[in-house]
Amino acid sequence: MCGIIGYIGKPPVVETLLDGLSRLEYRGYDSAGIAVLNGNGIRVYKRAGKVKDLRATLQHQSLDGHVGISHCRWATHGVPSDINAHPHVDCRGQLALVHNGIIENYAELKAKLLSQGHRFQSQTDTEVIAHLVEEHAKRLSLGEAFRKALQELRGSYALALVATSDPNHVYGARCGSPLIVGVGKGEMFLASDVPAVLAKTRRVIYLNDQEVIEMSSSGVQIMTLEGKPIKRKPSQVTWNLASAQKEGYDHFMLKEIHEQPNAVEQTLFNRLASTAPQITFDRRTTTLLNRLSPDERIVILACGTAYHAGMVGEYMLEEFAKIPVDVDLASEFRYRGIPVDPNTTVLAITQSGETADTLAGVRLAKSQGAKILSICNVMGSSIARESDAVIYTHAGPEIAVASTKAYTSQLTALYLLTLYLAKSHGALDPKRWQELAEGLCRLPELIEKALSTERAIKLIARRYASARDFYYLGRRYNFPSAMEGALKLKEICPTIHAEGYAAGEMKHGPISLIRKGWPVVFLATDSPVYEKVISNIEEVRARKGECIVIASEGNKTIRRHADALIAVPKTEELFSPVIVAVPLQLLAYHIAKLNKCDIDQPPNLAKSVTVE
Ligand code: AGP
Repeated sequence: MCGIIGYIGKPPVVETLLDGLSRLEYRGYDSAGIAVLNGNGIRVYKRAGKVKDLRATLQHQSLDGHVGISHCRWATHGVPSDINAHPHVDCRGQLALVHNGIIENYAELKAKLLSQGHRFQSQTDTEVIAHLVEEHAKRLSLGEAFRKALQELRGSYALALVATSDPNHVYGARCGSPLIVGVGKGEMFLASDVPAVLAKTRRVIYLNDQEVIEMSSSGVQIMTLEGKPIKRKPSQVTWNLASAQKEGYDHFMLKEIHEQPNAVEQTLFNRLASTAPQITFDRRTTTLLNRLSPDERIVILACGTAYHAGMVGEYMLEEFAKIPVDVDLASEFRYRGIPVDPNTTVLAITQSGETADTLAGVRLAKSQGAKILSICNVMGSSIARESDAVIYTHAGPEIAVASTKAYTSQLTALYLLTLYLAKSHGALDPKRWQELAEGLCRLPELIEKALSTERAIKLIARRYASARDFYYLGRRYNFPSAMEGALKLKEICPTIHAEGYAAGEMKHGPISLIRKGWPVVFLATDSPVYEKVISNIEEVRARKGECIVIASEGNKTIRRHADALIAVPKTEELFSPVIVAVPLQLLAYHIAKLNKCDIDQPPNLAKSVTVE
């Protein structure tokens, strides 16, 4: 949450910073700000609102300079306002900094700084850092003062700092919040995430916790908090700029929904061939998986959409690989004392690899001896680096706050993992294994077909766009799909209340709310519980609810149970969560669009949840 950028190189610095910032806006969008350093000192512009509002403010300013920092905010301490927006400055306005994270001991630091005569302007935790550096800089060089201040902070941070006393450097540091260095030609970048620098460079250095940098236009020095130098070479990023742009779509979310055939193909690429009856992973993943015995436990940790993928993962690993699995919300796992030991493999599922709760869960499990395997999209992210092995989804950058292609590619990685373990543990008859492997190979083609439901879905969206409550119901593999469908809708269309339930649970409470016209989305694709789902549909219809049914193509009888029908390609039940995800995403998207919602940047949310 919050995006930060630092830049040093060539003018015009403002355009470079704003361009990068607009690519980080998925991380926070309640306020934005910029500080530019030139011969006349530091000039700071900041305001509540989006990057476009900041851009409008800057339109009539002539801001030259070759060094600057900028920030987009997701408020933690202090309401979104002009004053609380970053950058924050010291008493004399001689240094400015931007911050992503939370300083937990800010109150005690602030009290001390106030007693030393510092004057504060904002209600943020961040401002204490500016004053702390100012205080230490009375006796130390700027670099030393910065490192000294960092040693006093408790909590999480990614920081970028500029100061008039050292106009040829940008300082940065990370602890618990992501930060990368982009290496250009005669210019250098510091950013929360790779898309911010993709227009300028694909050479990137990933920083670790407790690392500090001093960046000039020609290079970067990385060091520990104590100033001990660290050597690290840049990596080449495979993502390109086009993948981080809308390319003609109205929203990133719609673009990413349509990218799913390709995203899933990328997850399968080089790991499963329809001709060879085997799954191939990289060496570290293979070593970890080959040590996993069938009586060992897997604990899946994730949040939000990734948790829904984990729920599907639990079903398939238990059914096909016969391995006992627990799936837990990372935010619960980290505080509830669940026993893990060296006989536990923790599987962390995360698109960003930076989600604070998942990262904390991974660290806790690791400290208790568990092995960590992760399914992750962002290379070089914290969770990827702290895992013993990683199955990268290779879905490309996901910019929209609502997760779409990351979800279906996480499911695909789970299918690969399940088939790998089913085979290595001899849990599945070879003929059945081959059938499933062939089904998995066909997923990209089936997703493409599922996308063709969009026209029908637009009409359904029009019919139900003014409803204020929705239920989503499914059973077995599609119980998590129901939760995911509901999350998509309420996340991007905040005027609508939506809940996902196991269809069999309706009669234990939620059915009491059903009244005339209440829309209920049913997942009724082919499965061993299909008839049970039909009974649940009838229970809703008997109470005059409206049933929007997603069913398998070729089902001749379903129409009589449905007020609105979406037919999706037939597939094995375990693959159906991928196929039904597509109409669920499209339905949420088109309802939100008709309700004129801010689809890519819904209120109160941020893409990467790096605070607790
Ligand atoms: C999904 O639409 C959400 N934006 C959210 O639930 C997300 O999946 C969750 O925050 C986990 O993120 P991660 O995959 O990056 O860890």
